[in-house]
Amino acid sequence: MTTADSPVWTDLAADAEVVIARYPHARSALLPLLHLVQSVEGHVSAAGIEFCARRLGLTVAEVQAVATFYTMYKRAPVGDYLVGVCTNTLCAVMGGDAILGALQEYSPEDGSITLEAVECNAACDHAPVIMVNWEFFDTMTPAAARRLVDDLRAGRAVSPSRGRSPLCTFRQTSRLLAGFPEETR
Ligand code: FES
Repeated sequence: MTTADSPVWTDLAADAEVVIARYPHARSALLPLLHLVQSVEGHVSAAGIEFCARRLGLTVAEVQAVATFYTMYKRAPVGDYLVGVCTNTLCAVMGGDAILGALQEYSPEDGSITLEAVECNAACDHAPVIMVNWEFFDTMTPAAARRLVDDLRAGRAVSPSRGRSPLCTFRQTSRLLAGFPEETR
């Protein structure tokens, strides 16, 4: 856990300026800046919130309000792979609840894997879906889900059903979402 005065934030200031320069008003850069701070610690820490507030001329409360509204920003540390099982209506009836139950029983959380239930991500025609670092794994089963977390834990390259391949780590994905895609190719 860093403090607002940790050198890591000094190092990140130049990247933050690159992001801020993309917008006509500094405060408009808040969402990518939150991804940028998330790429440092694997979550948006109190120090990260203070960093955003200082760079953008916002209050800590204003940044906190945004960081706690959007579920893509995590307030507790996340492992290399955020495994989200969709348990919204269609995925749930197609097996999402069973997949989440199977993974909870399997206890995959070991520092590299963080498990969560997620809401509908508009991929219902491929239900039940799992998202790993927000990339889709379609028409999953409990057995396929266990194999997926085994592969992730073992460091084997994993390719999502569509989108970016191979999968990036959570911190790399956060940096990509901050607007630095070239570093994760
Ligand atoms: S209900 Fe799961 S993606 Fe829509």
